[in-house]
Amino acid sequence: MYEVKHRKYWDKSAKIYDGIIHDELNSFKKEAWESILQARIAEDRPLQILDFGTGPGFFTIVLSQMGHHVTALDFSKDMIAAAKRNCDSAGVKPQFIHVTGDTSFNPENTFDIIISRNVTWTLHQPEKVYSDWHKWLKKGGKVIIFDANWNISLANKIHGKIYQRDIKKAIQLGFPQYDEAELFSEGDEIAKHLPLTYAMRPEWDRAVLFQLGFHNIRIDQDFDDLIYTEAEKIAYQSIPSFSIVGTK
Ligand SMILES: C[S@@+](CC[C@H](N)C(=O)[O-])C[C@H]1O[C@@H](n2cnc3c(N)ncnc32)[C@H](O)[C@@H]1O
Repeated sequence: MYEVKHRKYWDKSAKIYDGIIHDELNSFKKEAWESILQARIAEDRPLQILDFGTGPGFFTIVLSQMGHHVTALDFSKDMIAAAKRNCDSAGVKPQFIHVTGDTSFNPENTFDIIISRNVTWTLHQPEKVYSDWHKWLKKGGKVIIFDANWNISLANKIHGKIYQRDIKKAIQLGFPQYDEAELFSEGDEIAKHLPLTYAMRPEWDRAVLFQLGFHNIRIDQDFDDLIYTEAEKIAYQSIPSFSIVGTK
């Protein structure tokens, strides 16, 4: 039940995310992400890459322009529609997969890389998804996860106060404010039912990936200065981004 509600929530959020992605594509952030991605992929040959939870297609565009063969997957039809439009404008032609409850997508030993940004915090069954990714990767393939403890304020009241204080300061520096209070409170309500809202990450991920058989697991938390504006650096200073790379 929550999953259907959740999918509709992402349909409703597609417009806001599309705006965010346009800003990223037209700013210093695009080049910053290219070098962050290249450092983790660490190969020059064209690879088969699955962008899981592509949203409006930011990673799909950047990775396609880097020469990779990208499959862009999402369960929100409006996110996939936005990704298609953005890929057309960028002149790239990835494969698109819109997964629904009825879709069977189980491509074993297929991808060199499975990547996701800001998706794993939203998963209802994160262990199941990580286990699928392990199956879908070729031997020697890599999982690359980018995320942050976005909802820690819901789990920890003291943290919530720190976060609100930082957001107020960031607004004075131009941090964007959205007139979408209803959508955001719906997002908080969904997040209260998500397991990773209450997990210590990225430590949680390291343990689960290790148990699934991933090796060479590497965690980095030092790239916010590259991807954030001055206002975002203040807003998110208590919830640093992390990346996790693991090899099958
Ligand atoms: C916060 S957005 C991030 C979008 C994109 N990765 C980015 O960084 O711009 C999360 C995306 O994950 C998708 N998503 C969440 N759970 C999913 C699932 N189980 N299967 C496929 N897509 C999912 C949502 O529809 C949404 O597009």
